[in-house]
Amino acid sequence: MKTIGVIGAGQMGSGIAQVSAQAGYHVLLSDVDVDRANKGKAGVEKALNRLVDKEKIDATARDAALGRIETVAGSGSFAEADLIVEAATEKEAIKRAIFAEVGKVLRDDAILASNTSSIPITRMAQASPDPERFIGIHFFNPVPVMGLIEVIPGLATSKATVATVSEFVATLKKEIVYAEDEPGFVVNRILLPMINEAVFVLGQGTANIADIDKGCRIGLNHPMGPLELADFVGLDTCLDIVMVLYNTTGDSKYRPAPLLVKYVEAGWLGRKTGRGFYDYSSAVPVPTR
Ligand code: 3HC
Repeated sequence: MKTIGVIGAGQMGSGIAQVSAQAGYHVLLSDVDVDRANKGKAGVEKALNRLVDKEKIDATARDAALGRIETVAGSGSFAEADLIVEAATEKEAIKRAIFAEVGKVLRDDAILASNTSSIPITRMAQASPDPERFIGIHFFNPVPVMGLIEVIPGLATSKATVATVSEFVATLKKEIVYAEDEPGFVVNRILLPMINEAVFVLGQGTANIADIDKGCRIGLNHPMGPLELADFVGLDTCLDIVMVLYNTTGDSKYRPAPLLVKYVEAGWLGRKTGRGFYDYSSAVPVPTR
């Protein structure tokens, strides 16, 4: 495997591009236009510069990794890619449209993967050119830091596809967890009910934001409390995942916390909008309740 195509140059896509380039792959990083792809690459450059400052890599390694990332618009150049990882917005209709587009250029021996956090792989495989060569590869945010990748074969995914993807993940020096194609896979199935419950706890006035997060940081030894983590992931993404759990299982235990819905409706989506459960307008985030 030589060339990795990454669709979506946001936080996840640029992280996937970074770790792939650092592992020696040629990366085609695409977004709807080349400006957005370039913005993603600029983020990778910043992250690599930080690693140079901390003497984790040298300038030669930084330049080599950056030189391996080629920014492109759309999916026209993906005929070259051995593996394409879709990391676009977590909306099924958008992903399906991308798979149809990529299907026009995907080689007969190439694999198409989705970094979806919760949409069923078997269902999305139906919009891909070949369900045997379609699979879920779920990265965690921030991609360069987090050591885990979930690999999710769909019902029709071939063993050869699973083996090739596992080899790819091994070259990124990350651990694999294999999950069946069930809603939320493993990690988000456990994480999102925790975040959702934290918002219920807040909404019911059991404790304020700072104490809920402090409780989990210190009491559970988590690096971040559930509300800061929700802001970090994005409250819209959290709600999307909770809704997938709720709608696909029909189980009322996954019903979204009303306050989570309200925050998303208010456009308070977390760090990316400057406000979620915390206000990020000053150097130190301030709890809003
Ligand atoms: N990109 C690259 N590196 C980053 C980074 C980023 N966005 N943010 C932090 N880092 C690096 C820092 O440079 C630092 O590296 P060093 O140890 O080599 O110096 C290291 O991570 C620790 O960072 P900091 O000292 O600045 O801050 P913290 O110690 O508070 O750690 C954190 C930050 C790593 C983000 C930590 O708080 C953490 O692990 N939080 C939980 C993250 C998590 O749970 N992610 C999973 C989310 S769920 C998900 O992604 C699934 C999806 O489907 C929803």
